[in-house]
Amino acid sequence: MSTAERALVAPLDVEKVRADFPILSRSVHGKPLVFLDSAASSQKPQVVIDAMSEFYSSGYANIHRGLYELSAEATRRYEAVREITRNFIGAGDAREIVFVRNATEAINLVAHSWGRSHVSEGDEVLISAMEHHANIVPWQMLCEEKGAVLRVVPINDRGEIELEALEQHISSRTRMISVCHVSNALGTINPVDEIVSMAHARGIPILLDGAQAVPHMKVNVEEIGCDFYVFSGHKLFGPSGAGVLYGRLELLDAMPPFLGGGDMIESVSFEKTTYAEVPQRFEAGTPDIAGVIGLGAAIEYLESVGWDAIEAWEVELMDYAVDRLAAIPEVRVIGTARRKVPVLSFDLEGVHPHDVAMVLDQEGVAVRAGHHCAQPVMERFEVPATTRATLAFYNTRSDVDALVRGLEKVLELFD
Ligand code: ALA
Repeated sequence: MSTAERALVAPLDVEKVRADFPILSRSVHGKPLVFLDSAASSQKPQVVIDAMSEFYSSGYANIHRGLYELSAEATRRYEAVREITRNFIGAGDAREIVFVRNATEAINLVAHSWGRSHVSEGDEVLISAMEHHANIVPWQMLCEEKGAVLRVVPINDRGEIELEALEQHISSRTRMISVCHVSNALGTINPVDEIVSMAHARGIPILLDGAQAVPHMKVNVEEIGCDFYVFSGHKLFGPSGAGVLYGRLELLDAMPPFLGGGDMIESVSFEKTTYAEVPQRFEAGTPDIAGVIGLGAAIEYLESVGWDAIEAWEVELMDYAVDRLAAIPEVRVIGTARRKVPVLSFDLEGVHPHDVAMVLDQEGVAVRAGHHCAQPVMERFEVPATTRATLAFYNTRSDVDALVRGLEKVLELFD
C-alpha cells in the first residue's frame, strides 16, 4: 500500500482494538504489560476465547461421526470454518483447506506425502537462507531419506532473496521450492509473485510458509499462484493447536496420506484400506475441533477490524519504531529489507540478547531473545542471537517508547 493509499484508509482505533484483548490490560512485575512477541505467538481477542468456551459449554461433540444433532452441529461449525478459511486466503475450493496443528505440521505433511512420492536420489529441494527450522528440517529429513540434495539460496546483507541468486540455484533436478512469505527472524517480505512465476516457468511446484505473513497482510493464494501455503492459527490471534495447509486440489488429490487412522479412510480391512477424499484424507484422528472454531472466530474478527486499517497502522508503527531505534547508537537492526513487516531483530552492542530480554521483562516488556528457530540466519549475520520485538496491530507508539526506555535502562546497567 502506497503512502497516498494509506492516507485514504480510515485509521485503526487502536484503543478499541486493545480493549478486545483482555490480556493486554494485565501487569507484569508491577508494570503494564507491553507485549512485543507476537511473532512467537500472538494474543487472543475475547471473541476467540468466547467462541471456544461457548463451543465447549454448549456445542461440543466429535465431528463427522455422530448420528445425533450435537455432532451434526459441531460438524457444520467445523466445516463452516473451512469455508471461512478458504475465503480468507482466496482459495478456489474448500477441499483445498486441510486443518493441521500448525505450519510445522503442514510442511511435514507436504514433505512426507508429496515429497516421498516426487523426490528421488539426486533430485534437489530448494529453500532460502532465511527459513525457519520448520522449513528446513522436514526437507532435510526427506533429502537424507531419498539421497536428494537440499540447496539453499543465499540472502543479501539487508536480508533479502535476490531473484538472480534464486534463478542460479534452480536446476533441472529441482523438484520443489519452499520459501517463507515473510521471515520470522528478519521481517522480510519476499517477492512471492516473482518467485512463483520463476518456479512455474520451469514446472516446479512451490510451497510458501505464510506463518508470519497472514498476521500482517491480506493474502490471496490464487493471485500469488503458489501450490501450497501454510500457516499457524496461534500467530493469527487464534488458538494454538489449529493451523492450515492450503494445497491446489489437483496436487492434494494425487497425494497419499500422511498420518493414518480414523476419519481419513473410506474402508478398512486387514487386507486393504482405501482412503477418504481430500481434505479428510489428511485429517486423521479427532482434530482440535474447538481450536478450529477459535481460528474461524479469529479470522472473522480480523476481517471486522479490516486489513487496510491493520496494514496502514502497522506501517506507521514500524516507521516510528525504526526511527526510535535508529536514535540509539548501540542498536544494530538485523533485517533491513526494503519490504518488511514490523519484526525488529537487533543487536545491542556489548549486551547479550538474553540479558536484554531479562531487563526488559522487569519493565513489563516481553520480547524474544535467541535464534528464533532460524539458526542459519544468525550465522549469516554472524551473531549468536538477536533480541526481537514484533509489533502487531494491537501495539501502540507508547509500547515502542517503553521498549526504548527499557533499552536505555539496559545500557545504563551494562555500561
Ligand atoms: N516461530 C516462532 C518465532 O518466530 C516460534 O518466534
